[in-house]
Amino acid sequence: MLDFQFSCPTKIIFGKDSEQQLGSQISLYGRKVLLHYGGGSVIKSGLHQRVINTLAEAGVEVVELSGVQPNPRLSLVREGVALCKEHNIDSILAVGGGSVIDSAKAIAAGTCYEGDVWDFFTGKAQLSEALPLGVILTIPAAGSESSSGTVITNEDGWLKRSMGGEILRPKFAIMNPELTYSLPPYQTACGIVDMMAHILERYFSNTESVELTDRLSEAALTTIINNAPKVLDNAEDYDARAEIMWAGTLAHNGLMGTGREGDWASHQIEHELSGIYDIAHGAGLAIVFPAWMKFCQRVNPSKLAQFAERVMGVPADFDGDIALEGIARFETFLRSLAMPVRLSEADIDNRHFEEMATKCIGDGLLGNYVQLSRFDIVEIYKLAQ
Ligand code: NZQ
Ligand code: ZN
Repeated sequence: MLDFQFSCPTKIIFGKDSEQQLGSQISLYGRKVLLHYGGGSVIKSGLHQRVINTLAEAGVEVVELSGVQPNPRLSLVREGVALCKEHNIDSILAVGGGSVIDSAKAIAAGTCYEGDVWDFFTGKAQLSEALPLGVILTIPAAGSESSSGTVITNEDGWLKRSMGGEILRPKFAIMNPELTYSLPPYQTACGIVDMMAHILERYFSNTESVELTDRLSEAALTTIINNAPKVLDNAEDYDARAEIMWAGTLAHNGLMGTGREGDWASHQIEHELSGIYDIAHGAGLAIVFPAWMKFCQRVNPSKLAQFAERVMGVPADFDGDIALEGIARFETFLRSLAMPVRLSEADIDNRHFEEMATKCIGDGLLGNYVQLSRFDIVEIYKLAQ
């Protein structure tokens, strides 16, 4: 096991009616809040009005910025930064999913910086300050409610890039599984794939003596696999929604990556897809991850065999290649969620394979479980066709 430091100070307020605690939480961080949300689901569900009422009761002044799109855009982030500076905003409340939270994180950083917020994504500026951020989560998926990162798409070149720092972890995250009842099956499924991918990116590691985090990961993955059909069969199954929601946070708060080297190639390979084609991140991962696994099975199959046995239930005496059987069963599971598992199923052809591979890595290497060259990444896109 590698040496590590672990700190995840986001206060999780989980359960039915947990949004009623918003007033007491947000008041800890300021009196003038930027309320940030997406394209309308929070208006439709009535959550927006409840939030407005709670903030008014708490005596908090509100400036609103809506319109965050999935794969959140830099232009709206810049708008948010300008609003915060103009109104002397002292904290941000993100109500939504990963896209809203990521947009809010970038605004939180950009408001405390003189230059252009994209500088943090290019490495030109180092993150040292950000406005405090609170979250009401409406979709379990990205894990951004307690992660330190943000992923933003720059429309100039359709570059989807991430940046992060401990200062960006939300101060609190309100998580009421009932708020996820209104999710369409497609969004529910995308979220499930993303949280599984966050575990797998850490699980596929060459670091030895990591039994605890291996088994924590396997427990979380099997819990997600057991509860996925339940939430798709019955959108209002509270207990199954709760299992999935908590799994999504634990998948990406860093705990399962402690003491081990993660991989993260599949995420980068996917980000190039959603950067260019604007597909949902979870759907992109459902296409990329099996292809990445197939590539790795050829050169480093050991952990894939463990995954096959312990997570996908392939018997140890299986007559055939255990790793390949595990990948096949994983694909079958993804299909049961109605996710695409081939680029062709998302209407993506081979036109941009070289470009995407170059944007991923240039002339360097990507990932750790297997280190990938640009040519390997093109091969993975081909395996995903
Ligand atoms: O915009 P609205 O109308 O709210 O609709 C959203 C959106 O269309 C809808 N939705 C959310 N909650 C709902 C709901 N619809 C009905 N009922 C509800 N309760 O769902 C759609 C997707 O929302 P989005 O926020 O885009 O989903 P997600 O949470 O999957 O976030 C995806 C983004 O997070 C990034 C991804 O790359 C992608 O841009 N990631 C962020 C990470 C991080 N910061 O740590 C890590 C991840 O790996 C990921 O890269
Ligand atoms: Zn992800």
